[in-house]
Amino acid sequence: MLKEIEERRSARSFSDRPVEDEKLINILRAGQWAPSCYNNQPWHFVVLRGEETRRIHDAINRGNSWAKSSYMIIAVVSKRDLDCISNGREYYMFSCGLAVENMLLESYHQGLVAHSILGFNEDLVKERLSIPGEYRVLILLIIGYPGDEEMKDHKRERKNLEEIVNYGGW
Ligand SMILES: Cc1cc2nc3c(=O)[nH]c(=O)nc-3n(C[C@H](O)[C@H](O)[C@H](O)COP(=O)(O)O)c2cc1C
Repeated sequence: MLKEIEERRSARSFSDRPVEDEKLINILRAGQWAPSCYNNQPWHFVVLRGEETRRIHDAINRGNSWAKSSYMIIAVVSKRDLDCISNGREYYMFSCGLAVENMLLESYHQGLVAHSILGFNEDLVKERLSIPGEYRVLILLIIGYPGDEEMKDHKRERKNLEEIVNYGGW
């Protein structure tokens, strides 16, 4: 697992090659089988393929315009009362995050690029996809086969374990 976890990256270059339905189903199953509080499974996945992605292109922030060249976009949608709220801690985003990471990893495993973005106009996405008012669009997953160009500037770095791990207490 660790090899694929470390190799996965949020690339920004996509080919226009369609993603096969079988691969899409595997990505959705990876999300479906994520853990969640009391197994509430608070996620909904709205899938746009090919020309359908154009419906929300104008909702994507300018800084993320690379996302418009992908074959597929999956909107991850939820609302707070679909999952546990414990002492003020709202877990719907947490559980959806687990589903999203599963989907990112399965996409990578399938030879695809998958990149999460929060830079979009949520109201516009909801309007275009007829998502009911009380739901939140948490993230758009931008998915497709990798393109030729790759960003030179995207260095993948992480904090050292010493910075983020305390053994035996804070
Ligand atoms: C919640 C969340 C929101 C993100 N939003 C954006 C975004 O709007 N635009 C973008 O280019 N990348 C976005 N990213 C991707 C991150 O920048 C990326 O995961 C991070 O730089 C680490 O790089 P890596 O995924 O290649 O390891 C987002 C990632 C997460 C988890």
